[in-house]
Amino acid sequence: MKEQLEQLLAEAIGQLKAQGTIPADHSVNIQLDRPRDKSHGDFATNLALMLAKPAKSNPRQLAEAIVAAVPENSLLSKMDIAGPGFINFTISQDQLKDQLTAMLNSDSLNVDVAKESKTIVIDYSSPNLAKEMHVGHLRSAIIGDAVSRVCEFLGHKVVRQNHVGDWGTQFGMLLAYMEALDNQSAEYELSNLETFYKAAKQRFDDSEEFADRARQLVVKLQSGDEYCLKLWNQFIDVSLSHCQEVYDRLGVKLTRADVMAESAYNDKLPGVIEHLRGKGLLTEDQGAQCVFLEEYKGKEGEPLPIIVQKKGGGYLYATTDLAAIEYRQKQLGGDHLMYFVDARQALHFDQIFTLARKAGFVEGEIQLDHYGFGTVMGKDGKPYKSRDGGVTKLADLLDEAERRALELLQQKTTDLTEEQQKRVAEVVGISSVKYADLSKNRTSDYIFDWNHMLTFEGNTAPYLLYAYTRVNSIFYRLGDTAFDRDADIILNDERELALANQLVRFNEVLHQVQDKAMPHFLCGYLFDLAGRFSSFYEACPILNQEDEALRNSRLKLSMLTANVLKQGLDLLGIPTLEKM
Ligand code: ARG
Repeated sequence: MKEQLEQLLAEAIGQLKAQGTIPADHSVNIQLDRPRDKSHGDFATNLALMLAKPAKSNPRQLAEAIVAAVPENSLLSKMDIAGPGFINFTISQDQLKDQLTAMLNSDSLNVDVAKESKTIVIDYSSPNLAKEMHVGHLRSAIIGDAVSRVCEFLGHKVVRQNHVGDWGTQFGMLLAYMEALDNQSAEYELSNLETFYKAAKQRFDDSEEFADRARQLVVKLQSGDEYCLKLWNQFIDVSLSHCQEVYDRLGVKLTRADVMAESAYNDKLPGVIEHLRGKGLLTEDQGAQCVFLEEYKGKEGEPLPIIVQKKGGGYLYATTDLAAIEYRQKQLGGDHLMYFVDARQALHFDQIFTLARKAGFVEGEIQLDHYGFGTVMGKDGKPYKSRDGGVTKLADLLDEAERRALELLQQKTTDLTEEQQKRVAEVVGISSVKYADLSKNRTSDYIFDWNHMLTFEGNTAPYLLYAYTRVNSIFYRLGDTAFDRDADIILNDERELALANQLVRFNEVLHQVQDKAMPHFLCGYLFDLAGRFSSFYEACPILNQEDEALRNSRLKLSMLTANVLKQGLDLLGIPTLEKM
């Protein structure tokens, strides 16, 4: 609908240009907003205010001219001029009804899929494998996964890339520790990677001999020594299975097949350096190979290097990312490369993108975006820590979520068996953690607060999951009783109309989520939808409605609400429950 309206306005502007009201060479950017206040219609534009100056006219007059130039159509029932010259548009009921029907008759809720499907390569999760996944790994996995799902739903080919860190100097220490343990106890101790890492670190700090061995092992590993590679592979395998367990519990779609580890680029790294040298971009600085780009200066205006090779010959994080970016465009065919990585890496990605374009690691019209996100904070306003002050392992955090969800559910009366309730608690617990993250603006820090996320009030997972079961219960009660799915939709009550208006916005919201890589738009939308359904449900009798036509129409609105809630939550990576 938004696009149709844009089209109508573009035609109106074309006509005004032809008449000479607006200068023909003036480029016009049509901006449409969704007014908060219902009395301002369904869409609003400040077009007349923007164009008044170039048109040498007053905004209200120009607004009138624009309104008059909008072609005859069935989309709008009303256009009003408000305030200094805003134009408010109201969508016609016929249009709304057509749209609702189209949504009901389509498996994909009639969303506009991309006319040209793009290949979108999405880098997310990407933890370092030396340690077990902790709370800091939550956001990338959850947000990246939701955006991936939305892009796929909108008709794009999504290639997931889990760029795990498996090749740093810490691995020497871990291998030395594995070596020192006999085979069996190594296996046992690896079952808790966090303590394994700590124990190895302790040894490394305490024993000079051990530290030497660790350094020796890194060099051997990096030169391809078979014994080291075997130990290393064993470690990586255990670490990746830990990750997979977390992904499976979280309902994050990543699998082993999506892992494209840092080490996978090893063979390409000498080529990266040679390529940069060939382009005349390399500078040697204190024995290290660096690239200095005009665009990046330090605080004092001093040139800022991107170091691509250390003095001893070792390669760096940036070198690997240059190899990866090339692979993503040239091998994977990426048209758009998305990176969901902590906001603190913004400069790194900025530099890599600029350098990759300059040096020709990527070519043509490729879109490169780093989508940063803020930190998960504790209630004390500092990065979230476990009770003992250490980092919180994700696995433990999820256990706690399930435990707390069960407590929450036990406060409610239910006809679920204990077993069913446990299953429900798993979904509610994990979903609450995910939803708390997804519903916040991606770019800001947020406070991790169990009480806020595990409640049936407000913009939370329990609220939405419960709202879904409520809609669903209508159809349980209806049972096998048929209702006419081809019945007309009636929107006479203001609550019906408000619900309908929200339902048809689904398409628009999903496109916003993709454009900005911001899942919280979808959360806000679903929360609002659930609220409008609730008002409708309370005010408009459905099952005990005697008027057959009205009953059918309301059942259809309820059914579409259920479908949109289910699909919307699924795109956020949250499963729905039939009962709770
Ligand atoms: N492993 C890195 C870290 O934990 C994140 C990797 C992000 N992806 C990338 N292509 N650099 O900080």
